[in-house]
Amino acid sequence: MKTIHVAAGRPYDIQIGGGLLGELPALLPGICGERRPRLALITDDRVDALSDGARRPVPDLQAALVAAGYPVCKFVFPNGEASKTLGTVREVYGFLSENSVTRTDLILAVGGGVVGDLAGFAAATWLRGVSFVQVPTTLLAMVDSSVGGKTGVDIPEGKNLVGAFWQPSLVVCDTDMLSFLPAGTFADGMAEVIKYGAILDEALFSLLESGAPGDRLREIIARCVDLKRQVVEEDERDQGLRQILNFGHTFGHAIEKESAFSVTHGQGVAIGMALMARACERAGLTPAGTADRIARCCALHGLPTETDYPLDILCAHAMGDKKRTGDRITLVTLERLGKAALHPVAAAELPGFMKGGARL
Ligand code: GLY
Repeated sequence: MKTIHVAAGRPYDIQIGGGLLGELPALLPGICGERRPRLALITDDRVDALSDGARRPVPDLQAALVAAGYPVCKFVFPNGEASKTLGTVREVYGFLSENSVTRTDLILAVGGGVVGDLAGFAAATWLRGVSFVQVPTTLLAMVDSSVGGKTGVDIPEGKNLVGAFWQPSLVVCDTDMLSFLPAGTFADGMAEVIKYGAILDEALFSLLESGAPGDRLREIIARCVDLKRQVVEEDERDQGLRQILNFGHTFGHAIEKESAFSVTHGQGVAIGMALMARACERAGLTPAGTADRIARCCALHGLPTETDYPLDILCAHAMGDKKRTGDRITLVTLERLGKAALHPVAAAELPGFMKGGARL
């Protein structure tokens, strides 16, 4: 087991290793001591099914926690981005109320990014804040969304437009859970892994160019988490440096939205990284060949790098993104592979830059 300590405003540990789901009852006293708070387990139907029924490939977490003396109540909602709404949060509040979950209790978010973001937001707002533990079960959630305390939901106007910074008390990444992921969902996470290489670590990027992570997967996850830790410790509230984590995301979110979410987050980010790198190359901001390397690496890991959606439409969506401030939007560009930079641009300049590589 590898432990990464995040020295955020409210510090916590991230545990990474195989079989850690079964270790959760033994890990919780590290944050609860001898107390046995009520655990409000929030998950989705896909993850819940893994520990239910005849095959039971995953230990029954609820039963293990009850056996360890914790009162547990469970809320299961349909998997997928369509559930990440204020409506589902309202249902969670009802569940927390019915089960008398108080400020001294604990919310356990077990699942991918949607579960972590939604349960984290419920934790941030229920009774003005209760502690929560993230148990990410997808690659994307392990390397990105479970780390750093961003919680929230989507509204019709855009993704993640409503949310709160609320750091977890503990993050437990059981890498064995990754073997249950459909290939496309694993590839979604690889988009974020490639992003970390592109913005912060050229050696990681080069490693990813050589093929599937294979038996280095755990090491790669730990590297991504540690890179994110460094960024979050420097800029917990996303006022500056942390924005580099949005490389590929402005257009990625725009593509997701234009496709009515038939393009997944990782696919959108992969296309967004390639689009941005190409525009940066044309503008002379990024060395020639960078965009091709990003596109080849994404393709190698099963991700798309092109879209037929017109740039004007994507730029219009991008202007509704939360990274916009006034009439400016901050683009994440690459000085080179392994080194990102922030470029605030006037909204009116965005289509020209994306189409022709106009200088910023
Ligand atoms: N996923 C980007 C961030 O946590 O800031």
